[in-house]
Amino acid sequence: MSVQWWKESVIYQIYPRSFNDSNGDGIGDIKGITLKLDYLKKLGVDVIWLSPVYDSPNDDNGYDIRDYHKIMEEFGSMEDFEELLNEMHKRELKLVMDLVVNHTSDEHAWFVESRSSKSNPKRDYYIWKPGKDGREPNNWGSAFSGSAWQYDEKTDEYYLHLFSKKQPDLNWENPDLREDIYQMMRWWLDKGVDGFRMDVINFLSKDQRFPDSAAEPGQRFADGGNFFAQGPRIHEFLQEMNRKVLSDYDILTVGEMPGVTVEEAKKFTAEDRHELQMVFHFEHVGLGNGPNGKWDNLPWKLTELKEIMTKWQKGLEQKGWNSLYWNNHDQPRAVSRFGNDGPYREQSAKMLAACLHLMKGTPYIYQGEEIGMTNVPFPSIEECRDIETLNWYEERMKEEGVDSAELLEAIYARSRDNARTPVQWDSSKHAGFTTGEPWLQVNPNYQEINVEKALEDSESVFYFYQKLIQLRKQEKAMVYGEYNLLLEEDEEIFAYTRLLDEEILLVVCNFSSKEQKRSFADITKGKQQQLLITNNKERTDKENLTEVTIQPYETFVYKLT
Ligand code: NOJ
Repeated sequence: MSVQWWKESVIYQIYPRSFNDSNGDGIGDIKGITLKLDYLKKLGVDVIWLSPVYDSPNDDNGYDIRDYHKIMEEFGSMEDFEELLNEMHKRELKLVMDLVVNHTSDEHAWFVESRSSKSNPKRDYYIWKPGKDGREPNNWGSAFSGSAWQYDEKTDEYYLHLFSKKQPDLNWENPDLREDIYQMMRWWLDKGVDGFRMDVINFLSKDQRFPDSAAEPGQRFADGGNFFAQGPRIHEFLQEMNRKVLSDYDILTVGEMPGVTVEEAKKFTAEDRHELQMVFHFEHVGLGNGPNGKWDNLPWKLTELKEIMTKWQKGLEQKGWNSLYWNNHDQPRAVSRFGNDGPYREQSAKMLAACLHLMKGTPYIYQGEEIGMTNVPFPSIEECRDIETLNWYEERMKEEGVDSAELLEAIYARSRDNARTPVQWDSSKHAGFTTGEPWLQVNPNYQEINVEKALEDSESVFYFYQKLIQLRKQEKAMVYGEYNLLLEEDEEIFAYTRLLDEEILLVVCNFSSKEQKRSFADITKGKQQQLLITNNKERTDKENLTEVTIQPYETFVYKLT
């Protein structure tokens, strides 16, 4: 296993729209980020992944790009961006851009040309098909409800959009399109950016037969994932991208990959295959999904979570590399989803942090996670802004006998808007995010949960994250050690070890609100022990781990030598 800077780093994700507004228009911006760099430096992260800041009509908040070479006006200018990059590099922070190349906006110049006529040279930059029997070319559904095909009168054909109608899919079969994308990537890398987080990158290669997919009973549209997630040419495309672009730079690459399996992830991330460094899989965040996906929000068990995490830990142990996350701009808040956002909010936020950061892989922190921000009880659909949520709600409300209160419950549990409310900086109006009207309401709990308060309290979630990040720099075992699960069948305790040479890290996390007693005698026997981190003030180096009482949502990590 090779030693790499991106394995030793901790990455912080910024969703610019919700991070910090410097000009009072209610929308976060690039200058707002620059103003907070010292805060991020204090936290100790090494890399910032910036969700899209490119020019966009914002149908999907920037994941619909109109111009890859321009900064979104609401966010500022190219000068602001360059200043940000410069200020980051001065502080030895790296900047990873979001690369959205499965689709563009329908307002991108390529698409405007493409839809203008069948003979336009850019026609083939997108995926156009004639209808079948007066209907869509196949039954694939869009991730944002309805068909994945949109009829275009002008040329009497349909175009594919796996996401919104305003996000037409690019046709990666076309070599000219691929060259244009590679050139654009080089343009950003030559500007000095330090890598790419690649949006739904495993969707690039579509099965060229475009067959129907098996639909759930009573459903008109089906998940076509079998025909485009890990499609026939995906490894070829990524190897080409690596050869023509990535391999010339010392950068970080991570592919977002819904539906990716461990076996596929090994191929994407094995160093000798020259594709990507790491992937985001979705298995743990899919826990409790039902036939209607995340909106069913069914109960899940700790043993299921452990099984998933362990499968990925062991699966990528020899070849490949994991990325570790609970949160991002598409997921509900971790403390609400996997912890306890009531009486144990701080305890469980710290426990989740330790549980994740001690695993093998590169950890990601999503803005606000470092202060334990929670889900938001949206009082009505009018407060929501996310296109996925709004489309789903509208579709469901068309059905007979559907109760909007139930839909709102599901939204409260799982909507992407939970992650997108403004960062809570202080207890002033709108949590100090803006002096204007925020584009999405601030979580009403901002007076209790905010950065200012966290910085004043040496026991806060913030300082726990800071300590975890520092530990990563000291303890090689935290980065490179072998992972092994303990107490496999346990429904309350997630415990594991990391082993490097003669050194063992013992990680224990209580996922329940009850006190637990367990024994770790087998592992600790004959060893010296040193407490590395805990959220329980009473814990000491000398603890008897043969019979230990673990507090609700407690976590502790011992180094055994
Ligand atoms: C994944 C992104 O994370 C999400 O926010 C976006 O809506 C889709 N890809 C489409 O770009």
